[in-house]
Amino acid sequence: MGSSGRYIALEGSEGCGKSTQARWLADDLGAVLTREQGGTRIGSLIRGILLDPDHTELERRSEALLNAADRAQLIAEVISPALDSGTHVVSDRSVYSTLAYQGYGRGLPLDELRNINDWAINGCWPHLAVLIEVDPALLEARTSARVKDRFERESNDFHDRVRRGFADMAAASPEQWAVIDGNADAETVRARLRTVVRERLGI
Ligand code: TMP
Repeated sequence: MGSSGRYIALEGSEGCGKSTQARWLADDLGAVLTREQGGTRIGSLIRGILLDPDHTELERRSEALLNAADRAQLIAEVISPALDSGTHVVSDRSVYSTLAYQGYGRGLPLDELRNINDWAINGCWPHLAVLIEVDPALLEARTSARVKDRFERESNDFHDRVRRGFADMAAASPEQWAVIDGNADAETVRARLRTVVRERLGI
């Protein structure tokens, strides 16, 4: 590919602070900021289907494929062109969220999800995924006042599996992952994140 742009994904559970951190990191790096789902016009429509709590009949394979479709559009329309032009990309979530939520959370086979998504993203995996880890009690405190979407209404067991899934993936692939403690105040987390990106990617 020969691109010099770096693709950084922030991952973690709802309420971990990754949306704010993604915005700040993109500012600090002069990077393109995007998100999954919903980083494109098509993706916003897909996100609407996925998050609507009325869609109780949505089958888990449909859920996985809709996330993959959102991602295919995002890679083609936003991420690959930016990287090819030498611009860094910071994304609020990535393919790893599918492994965590549809794999560890819903119980779909991880190998199949990896294969389907590798095809969807045309092999364009993040150069670095950063897991922002926050204690469950603090996550709950941060999200309890929200109107909950379809995922946020899932059981505590589901969210525990997702959290453990992220931690397992990060532990199993330290060359792809960095983990930072997100329990501190937002500016402290921002500085930790900036340090990790500099150390790991040299930017
Ligand atoms: P958000 O919390 O970052 O707005 O993400 C939307 C929700 O979608 C969140 O609960 C995680 C979930 N999700 C998946 O289940 N699979 C995926 O592949 C992605 C990107 C998100």
